Amino acid sequence: MKIQRLIHLAALTIIACLSLFFVFNSASAKVSGSCANCHTMHNSQGGSALNSDAIETLLANDCVGCHSATSGSTWKDATTGAPIVYNIAEPSFNDAKGLAGGNFYWVVNKGDEYGHNVLSIPGMPSDELTEAPGIPTEADVAPDPVDPTCGNCHVQIDDCTSCHKPAHHADDSATVVGETGGWYRFLKSGSHEHDGGGGVEGIEDPDWEQTKDELKHNEYKGGVLGVHGVDKSMSDYCAGCHRDFHDTEFVGTSSPWLRHPNNYALPEDTDKEYYLYNTPDGTNIGYYNPQAPVARPDLSSYSTSSRTVTPGTDQVFCLSCHRPHGTEYKDILRWNYDGMIAGGGGDDGTGCFICHTTKDG
Ligand code: HEC
Ligand code: HEC
Ligand code: HEC
Ligand code: HEC
Ligand code: HEC
Ligand code: HEC
Ligand code: HEC
Repeated sequence: MKIQRLIHLAALTIIACLSLFFVFNSASAKVSGSCANCHTMHNSQGGSALNSDAIETLLANDCVGCHSATSGSTWKDATTGAPIVYNIAEPSFNDAKGLAGGNFYWVVNKGDEYGHNVLSIPGMPSDELTEAPGIPTEADVAPDPVDPTCGNCHVQIDDCTSCHKPAHHADDSATVVGETGGWYRFLKSGSHEHDGGGGVEGIEDPDWEQTKDELKHNEYKGGVLGVHGVDKSMSDYCAGCHRDFHDTEFVGTSSPWLRHPNNYALPEDTDKEYYLYNTPDGTNIGYYNPQAPVARPDLSSYSTSSRTVTPGTDQVFCLSCHRPHGTEYKDILRWNYDGMIAGGGGDDGTGCFICHTTKDG
């Protein structure tokens, strides 16, 4: 462990320069570098075991080991290049205090509601929630909460592979990353096929939104409200465990809604507030805002991320309001819900108001 740390530090300076190079020059994000940075052939070094238990695919570390950092400012591991999703000290490296997915710091240190409780993270408490809210319930497909093979993902998240099916050596250099690239951010159930056999598609920002603005960001795949297994959308993916928040039966099909819609286009109707998404002046539509992103139902015409938002097409979806890992706000929201005060006096021009432009004041 000590030797590893030393190598770590020595490599830091060189890699820091190299990683800058990669951030700006590498479109592909499959792993690179010496095998020994990540793999151990015999789980043995100088006669002693590297890990108490050997890890699958001869890895020198597990998911949390590679994807976490002790310092609050490390967003990418200096040796392996792994993006950091869990900082043991409060993350400070981004205005969102974490990469696009957020950070598990908050759920370990602030409480249950601040993230998904991934139990393989050291010190992670179990959630008071006894199952995923909105879990699929139809008798024929319902996960049986007492069946541990279903429960490990649907009633609690026992480790990162509840949500990711990793494919670190897959070539994800295509603009829209899908099956051949190991799916967008490896998002697919590791244990069973989605109804349509698919995972999530999307355009991957090269530094996971460590830096982001209206032009540089992830592009998320939208789809059809209530449809399962075929549209490869982020919302449908979340609905795999939170079905009631996505199905028309529980959400409705048009205004007035029963639950907040997702995979639903911002109305272009000028009698409604949504056609002025992120308005800079109350009269014109604004640009894409990574604080409250929209999903695109069809990404095939995109060659890169775009700042244009088109009402009538682009959609509100689960990650318009949430991040998946953890945030400093309750319910893993992207902003402070308590600051959303109708009529003005709250966090004007942010969060809900990016779409609900006329409720601001
Ligand atoms: C930056 C870290 C990293 C480096 C460098 C790396 N690997 Fe891997 N490798 C992984 C991880 C993580 C997995 C875990 C499973 C997965 O995601 O497919 C893996 C899985 C594998 C697998 C099994 C899955 C597959 O895709 O075939 C093989 C074989 C493999 N690595 C060989 C190598 C060899 C050979 C090298 C050096 C030429 C190398 N790796 C370098 C991280 C790395
Ligand atoms: C040996 C170190 C190592 C281990 C172990 C490891 N990863 Fe990674 N992971 C990496 C590196 C390096 C990258 C960045 C590759 C790149 O540049 O996009 C990465 C990228 C990722 C990504 C982002 C993929 C993308 O499209 O940008 C996800 C998701 C991920 N890993 C999940 C996991 C999960 C889940 C596990 C455990 C099953 C795991 N990793 C284990 C090193 C590791
Ligand atoms: C509830 C499902 C869920 C769990 C559990 C989960 N992830 Fe993720 N992860 C996601 C989603 C969704 C994204 C894509 C976020 C985006 O692009 O906005 C993501 C993105 C990532 C990325 C890319 C960096 C980023 O922030 O976009 C890495 C690396 C990663 N996850 C690793 C992990 C590791 C390691 C764990 C376990 C400690 C884990 N994930 C647990 C859903 C999950
Ligand atoms: C593999 C199943 C699974 C997937 C996929 C999944 N979740 Fe969850 N989710 C859970 C479980 C289980 C809980 C309750 C326990 C916990 O928080 O870990 C939960 C809790 C939550 C909570 C409440 C947090 C709290 O503790 O109060 C939110 C918000 C949430 N999920 C949003 C999402 C979003 C958004 C996505 C898609 C990016 C998603 N989930 C994908 C299983 C899942
Ligand atoms: C390794 C984690 C994991 C395990 C174990 C698991 N699931 Fe899932 N399940 C997921 C994830 C993630 C999704 C979301 C989409 C996907 O399939 O990738 C999902 C989606 C679903 C869906 C919704 C499919 C759809 O069309 O949206 C059902 C139903 C389901 N699971 C039932 C079960 C049952 C029953 C079991 C036990 C036999 C089980 N799951 C075990 C992770 C898991
Ligand atoms: C990315 C854009 C977006 C964001 C962010 C957003 N909404 Fe919405 N919201 C919509 C759309 C689109 C509709 C459906 C409009 C329609 O059918 O006319 C909607 C509908 C609603 C409705 C139901 C209105 C009806 O006609 O039945 C309420 C209430 C609501 N949103 C509240 C909120 C709150 C509170 C927040 C912040 C937590 C929020 N929304 C964030 C886009 C958004
Ligand atoms: C318009 C913003 C918005 C969108 C879109 C949205 N959520 Fe939420 N979500 C919230 C807010 C705000 C809360 C806090 C509780 C409340 O007001 O209902 C919440 C709470 C939750 C919870 C916790 C519920 C509980 O019982 O504690 C889960 C799980 C969740 N959301 C999942 C999802 C999933 C999955 C999607 C997409 C299918 C989604 N959300 C889309 C704003 C949103």
